[in-house]
Amino acid sequence: MKVGIGSDHAGFVMKEAIIKFLEEKKIEFIDYGTFKEESVNYPDYALKVSKAVTDGDVDYGILICGTGIGMSITANKVKGIRAALCHNEETARMSRLHNNANVLCLGGRVLEESLALKMVELWLNTSFEGGRHENRIKLISTLTGL
Ligand code: RB5
Repeated sequence: MKVGIGSDHAGFVMKEAIIKFLEEKKIEFIDYGTFKEESVNYPDYALKVSKAVTDGDVDYGILICGTGIGMSITANKVKGIRAALCHNEETARMSRLHNNANVLCLGGRVLEESLALKMVELWLNTSFEGGRHENRIKLISTLTGL
């Protein structure tokens, strides 16, 4: 499994914590930036990571901004991306189980770091349930043409 990760300045500290966690768990990743806390525009990083997912360079994406909202709005504009803005372990788990989310969005300014790390672990270790949810995902695809 390979993960693409990106953040803006407001998500930078949490991105670094998640990277440390991925390294500890020996999970392969590509860091798409930002690489410092200087102010940047979150859509640039949402697009980099989302395109990496749809191009097949990585299997999943993780995006962090202040609230996670801007990242999720942007990522969901990319065909084939199902970005889930999650706030707790349950929403992280359900976004994989029922929505087959391929991008996890987190709020670096609204989540405790320890909770965010638990959510990342759970999200990466939960598989899509398929079944009745398969058709619902197809219905979403008919909107985007992918
Ligand atoms: C940056 O100040 C902040 O607006 C951004 O990180 C994010 O929360 C937007 O949704």
